[in-house]
Amino acid sequence: MTKLARIVTTVSMGLLLLVGFGRGEDPAAKLRSDQDGLALTPPMGWYPWNEFGQEPQNEKLIKETVEALVRSGMKEAGYTYIGPDEGICFSRDASGKLTPNLARYPSGLRGLGDYVHQQGLKYALYTDAGTHTCSKAMPGTKGHEFEDMKAFAEWRADYVKVDWCNTAGQTPQTAYPKLRDAQLAAGRPLVFSLCSWGQGQPWKWAASVGHLWRTTEDICEPGKASWTAALKNVEANEKLSASAGPGHWNDPDMMITGMSGLSEVQNRSLFSLWCMMASPLMAGNDLRSMTESTVKILTNREAIGINQDPLGIQARIVRKDGAAEIWAGKRLFDGSQAVLVFNPGEAPAQVQVTPGDAGFEESASLYVRDMWTHQTSGPRAGSIRVTVGPKDVALLRISKTSSFPLPPIIVADSYRVVFHASGNSAQKLAKAIAVKNNGSSELPLWKVSPGLPSWLSVTVTPSGKTQTFSNQVSVAGLGRGHYHAVVKADNREPLSGLPMSALYYDVDLEVSGAAGGPANN
Ligand code: GLA
Repeated sequence: MTKLARIVTTVSMGLLLLVGFGRGEDPAAKLRSDQDGLALTPPMGWYPWNEFGQEPQNEKLIKETVEALVRSGMKEAGYTYIGPDEGICFSRDASGKLTPNLARYPSGLRGLGDYVHQQGLKYALYTDAGTHTCSKAMPGTKGHEFEDMKAFAEWRADYVKVDWCNTAGQTPQTAYPKLRDAQLAAGRPLVFSLCSWGQGQPWKWAASVGHLWRTTEDICEPGKASWTAALKNVEANEKLSASAGPGHWNDPDMMITGMSGLSEVQNRSLFSLWCMMASPLMAGNDLRSMTESTVKILTNREAIGINQDPLGIQARIVRKDGAAEIWAGKRLFDGSQAVLVFNPGEAPAQVQVTPGDAGFEESASLYVRDMWTHQTSGPRAGSIRVTVGPKDVALLRISKTSSFPLPPIIVADSYRVVFHASGNSAQKLAKAIAVKNNGSSELPLWKVSPGLPSWLSVTVTPSGKTQTFSNQVSVAGLGRGHYHAVVKADNREPLSGLPMSALYYDVDLEVSGAAGGPANN
């Protein structure tokens, strides 16, 4: 089975025909992301738990949040994955099959996924490795791993977080690989997020299992953001910097930036820490009622550029100066270096950042760009004097040149293309989706993986920073029924030459009426 043949096609009734994803490969031998090209930079998106807990989560909340995410500019800044956490989404019926909770999610979980995809966003769902989820309100996957992962694939999830409650004697080292195998067998490439809160030390073994793993306890109880608890997570996560990289991330939990109880300074500091730690940027606040200040922080593209850097290095504390911490060791794709001075103390701190702290020779002549004031100074030799207020940060990019390019931020107008064909065998249909790069460079052409079904062809044409994927359908020979394909495309960031996260989208074709071939049912 070639690595490239990863296009899955489905026929009616949601049956998945696996063409090539993962089959015949030894998943334990390499990074999970080597197989699917996903999450090569930290995933960005939104999950409801920190703010809402489980109770008010429903379709209305998710849809309103999607609208807020788009309206606020978060989508344009790169936030992509969105969906319910433990929000009483499904139960298990008498036959063992997961059944969506239609009272809370009237469109069903597939319907909600379609809505999310049509807004140009990706669909995130949640489950648990045990018998039940943490509140016991939903069934867990234990004993149903394969059928549940198939259900997530049928609902078209692009991301699944797997929690660690009611585990009934399992260990993370055995339960999560089993779920990985079940997920690969389901045939839908998705981001796989382990949530054992650091139990079983997933940073030592889970890079072949998932794309990210929680390293800590929950950052807060629902609705109760805590600065102190967040810094505890930061402290634990900092020690694990060597384990993170493209496709395998330490996850100190969803963010609390923008939740009530935190000042603007604290919001900015926590966001800067998440950016420096190459942590997943999953917002956890109520996006529908954000202050302007929160929007500005969450959509700061220069700070996000540090988080989304293709090299994927997690910064660490290289030196302390009084209460202040100097975070560095984060080389970026253009040769510049990211440096954070964080002052958790109660009094202002004055710190000298040496070129050596920043990863340069001491004699280097350097430009310094502040990610929050958006000012560049330099060139200058010697130490950089930084004054930081209590609980505040200075988030800097330091470079030998005066240009500070942004890495790619990919934004699509839709991740789903739908065709309705009459069945006239001469019929040809075309629909396009636009994929934009909000980073600095024009990208090479996206390369569509071979192995598309015979009824579909895709061509890509560039126009500045937008590339158009034209999807052409030919119904000749197709019977009545529903056809589905997942299109995968790859690209590379031009400055570093490193692969970018693969792009996936769904194509649905409904053939009705008199058709060229036998019915596809
Ligand atoms: C655990 C997880 C949280 C959240 C809740 C849901 O505590 O760590 O992020 O998903 O379960 O119950």
